[in-house]
Amino acid sequence: MDVRDLDTPALVVDLDQLERNIGAMADGVRAAGGRLRPHTKTHKTPEVARLQLQRGAIGLTVAKLGEAEVMADAGFDDLLIANEIVGTPKLHRLARLARRIRVRSCVDSLAGARMLSSVAVAAGVRCEVLLDVNTGLNRAGVAPDEAVALGTAIGALPGLVLVGVFSYAGAAPGAPAADAHRAWAVREAETAVAIARELQARGFPATEVSVAGTGSAVYAAATPGVTEVRPGTYVFNDMNYSRLGISAVERCALRIHSRVVSRPAPDRAVIDAGSKVLTTEKRALGGEDPGFGFIEALPGTRIAALWEEHGVLRLDDDGRQLAVGDVIAIIPNHVCPTINLADSWYGVRAGTVEQEYAIAARGRTR
Ligand SMILES: Cc1ncc(COP(=O)(O)O)c(C=O)c1O
Repeated sequence: MDVRDLDTPALVVDLDQLERNIGAMADGVRAAGGRLRPHTKTHKTPEVARLQLQRGAIGLTVAKLGEAEVMADAGFDDLLIANEIVGTPKLHRLARLARRIRVRSCVDSLAGARMLSSVAVAAGVRCEVLLDVNTGLNRAGVAPDEAVALGTAIGALPGLVLVGVFSYAGAAPGAPAADAHRAWAVREAETAVAIARELQARGFPATEVSVAGTGSAVYAAATPGVTEVRPGTYVFNDMNYSRLGISAVERCALRIHSRVVSRPAPDRAVIDAGSKVLTTEKRALGGEDPGFGFIEALPGTRIAALWEEHGVLRLDDDGRQLAVGDVIAIIPNHVCPTINLADSWYGVRAGTVEQEYAIAARGRTR
């Protein structure tokens, strides 16, 4: 099928670019002496995970237990859940999953670790955990200066094995030069390595040091003591990372095809993708409103407003040529939540649809 014959809105992935992105990260991490455990929350698609493993990934990262179950059902047997698993229903599911495959999760509190410990003991399994340390994102994670004491207490709990240290500092704040990205990545990595070494000195295995994302993976991989890096966004890339200088428009593999359904005014067009397709994410840099995605063919036309089912384009002179029925291609601001809103995406090569891929782990928020 010709890509132009797809119904809209549709997520369309340039398979050549996807493969180049997967290969470039695999090569970059390997050349830096590191190992890759890519974060699959970006694509939620087992076929892409398989490509990542074929290119040398040592295992997969997932964001949620539900994503882990989907990936385990698809045959993957070495998963890291990059999250704290809390609450009885989930802990029982985690214990069940730990019987089937190697699955590790994160802990950053004694309360959470105790819950996991008691479920693990009752279920007769040993759950492998990584101590989540806050290295600058200020999301979850124990403060670095409290990490060794907490790790020591958690490592002593029955049913748990403290296998290492985990952190995610995200991208360096602002849109800095490559040097700042490197400095941010190395600071995260070295903080995590130092804590892991102290835990080892106290007799815990704590040999794993799992850090980094797309902007920091290669730099972190080169830091001695780091055992794996977890970039996710790099498979598709997006406008947020292109604006930050972590990626570039020409490396973006996914576009949302959307059709003009109304032309109510000379400077206004309405498309069939609203917030339920594009998400409402935008990350303004330097005070400039980027709109709700980027139309590469019409860079001066902005996706200015979203309703659930409607996107409103503010047209520049080039954009005024758009007519009802025309299809535009939009690069999303943030590709990960965009994927989570769709049932499937279309893999395309040279304008021809090769395959429709089910987004098997979409909506797995538990
Ligand atoms: C814990 C964790 N690890 C890894 C990643 C992947 O980072 P990136 O999106 O920069 O590839 C994320 C992304 O949010 C994350 O939250």
